[in-house]
Amino acid sequence: MLDLSVNLAGVTLKNPVVVASGTFGFGREYSQFYDLGELGGICAKGLTLHPRSGNPAPRIAETPMGILNSVGLENPGVDTFVAEELPFLRKFDTKIIANISGNTPEEYGIMCEKLSGAGVDMIEVNISCPNVKAGGLAYGTRLELAAEVTEEAKKHANGVPVMVKLSPNVTDITEIAKAVEGAGADAVSLINTIRGMRIDVNTRRPVLKMNTGGLSGPAVLPVAVRMVWEVAQAVSLPILGMGGVSKGEDAVQLMLAGACAVAVGTALFADPFAPLTVRDSLADIAAKQGLTAVSGLTGGVRPW
Ligand SMILES: Cc1cc2nc3c(=O)[nH]c(=O)nc-3n(C[C@H](O)[C@H](O)[C@H](O)COP(=O)(O)O)c2cc1C
Repeated sequence: MLDLSVNLAGVTLKNPVVVASGTFGFGREYSQFYDLGELGGICAKGLTLHPRSGNPAPRIAETPMGILNSVGLENPGVDTFVAEELPFLRKFDTKIIANISGNTPEEYGIMCEKLSGAGVDMIEVNISCPNVKAGGLAYGTRLELAAEVTEEAKKHANGVPVMVKLSPNVTDITEIAKAVEGAGADAVSLINTIRGMRIDVNTRRPVLKMNTGGLSGPAVLPVAVRMVWEVAQAVSLPILGMGGVSKGEDAVQLMLAGACAVAVGTALFADPFAPLTVRDSLADIAAKQGLTAVSGLTGGVRPW
């Protein structure tokens, strides 16, 4: 018998496969396909303090082995999530991870108060958003800003584990990981999307209305594996690994690099069942390697 459960910052996931924030909405559409209790966890769509309608279209573009998106955090706001979406998600036997973005550290704190009071299992703090006070610079790219947001989130999370989602758009991701560890983060998740651009050669216009967007999908997997591996060596925090996972082997790579659990995102758009096939094939690989628990994969890479 293979034990599929894993521990992520004190939260037990029944299996190591969760769905990535922003690619699963609040689960309603996917619940028509299968019981969401099959998932290790659900990272809900990114929330902001107030509702947002997101960026103008076009905001999704296909690329070789991936997509670019500039959705811009369209969401109904944290209060509507708590009142209408969380009760729906709570019907399923799975862990619910809320994902938050703020314009100021205070906004992160207020959202953490509301969400911890509402009973989410974990809070994922997206620091890839612009800091209004610092002139639009992303929190995730400056050590002191990343630390400040983490501290504020921890102060208001009332014991609910805080997982900080790291941006890959930095020179050295380990520096940011160390900064958020020092500020009290309970876990880190990585990677968020990588900034990219596509141009229509006939119109000479960028394909996305915002000109640039975030790249995700199979194209980013090797970057994600490398960054998880680097972060795993730099900090002692548990890691939720993601970026380009569409098969069991991809998930196993992230776990061998150091992740305790993995998230499936863009692959859901082509196949809503992707998290379940990833889970089953990951389990097969672990069993074939003679493991009794999938958690035994974590950090098992043997570098040259
Ligand atoms: C359409 C779309 C929306 C996303 N929205 C969010 C979000 O709201 N918050 C967040 O932290 N990450 C968001 N992400 C990033 C994903 O959660 C994930 O980190 C990234 O896509 C890499 O994983 P993947 O290659 O499996 O998609 C979004 C990604 C996509 C494609």
